[in-house]
Amino acid sequence: VKYLRNSWYCAGWSHEIDERPKGIRMLDEYLVIYRGKDHQAIAMTGRCTHRFAPLDQGVVIDDDIICPYHGLRYGADGVCKHNPHGDGFIPPRAKLNTYVVAEHNTALWVWMGDAEAADRTLLPPETALVSAEYSSVRMALKLPVNYQLIIDNLLDLTHAPYLHSSTLANTEGMSIADIPQPGFEFKAEGDTLKSHYHFDVMPPSPLLAPYFTDPVGEFNAEMAWQPASTLSLDVRMDPLAGGQSEFIDMPSVHYLTPETADSTHYFTAISRNRDIHSTDADEHMRMLASKAFLEEDEPMISRCQELMGGNPDIFEMGAVMLRTDVAGVQARRLLKKKIEAESGTQELQDAG
Ligand code: FES
Ligand SMILES: [Fe+2]
Repeated sequence: VKYLRNSWYCAGWSHEIDERPKGIRMLDEYLVIYRGKDHQAIAMTGRCTHRFAPLDQGVVIDDDIICPYHGLRYGADGVCKHNPHGDGFIPPRAKLNTYVVAEHNTALWVWMGDAEAADRTLLPPETALVSAEYSSVRMALKLPVNYQLIIDNLLDLTHAPYLHSSTLANTEGMSIADIPQPGFEFKAEGDTLKSHYHFDVMPPSPLLAPYFTDPVGEFNAEMAWQPASTLSLDVRMDPLAGGQSEFIDMPSVHYLTPETADSTHYFTAISRNRDIHSTDADEHMRMLASKAFLEEDEPMISRCQELMGGNPDIFEMGAVMLRTDVAGVQARRLLKKKIEAESGTQELQDAG
């Protein structure tokens, strides 16, 4: 078993979902998502029961979706309610799975497991995305790598000064042997695991520099993960005693949704509490963040995955562990435990 099913997975940003059906593969299953007549989001199996046509090419009428191939019409409950070819006969197996959805933190979430177990309290915390004090840019990326390798990447930001020297870090031109290391602390709060990084004195990175005018400040970054694959990062720069700059807060979210075993939807958004009405500043933030994720992280993680021979299990691979891997390692263990517990329950149900 590869995935935790009883968990919320982000399927996109709420404002990007409308009455036009959208197809998305999540956890190896193809879904169709659209908004019905009251604007509520509907998620169901995305291929027709008849000849497996992609329903995202179909047409939505009220809450129903009509298959683009031979016209079977399904209701929001996934049940076929009209067959244009059968004198009113509806094949009993013409029924699609439907999924529980939630709109939260400006994103759409799909519960891929047992509908009865869907629990809104397990949604990740709300962030600056819902605050009028912040300006945010939202991105929907896709990375051709296993989601667990991206969780490893995000929970171990010691890679930033090496890999992101001219974007998220401030180490451009520095010799790789001289890169300074932050103070590091691991925290666990229930199932939420956190990596905290701290510099007493640090020049701002290119991402922070437009808003932080002092040459140096105090830097804190805290990445938090919660099962199965949602993360949030709080980055802030505070002025030192006597500094002129105001503090800058730049939180981001990193919602990972496995598409298949080796590709991942990466819904990410980054916010800032300075210069919040500037579209130039939005573009600067978007440009640096997408450069970091797509031109720096992605090629590195892809090469690692290739050199791992396609096995994303770092324990089976005998990976060396460092002190700063504690959050990533614990996240892997916790996720594995939850997946095993879930498939154990499933086997019991199947046996009974
Ligand atoms: S494939 Fe959908 S009606 Fe035939
Ligand atoms: Fe990175």
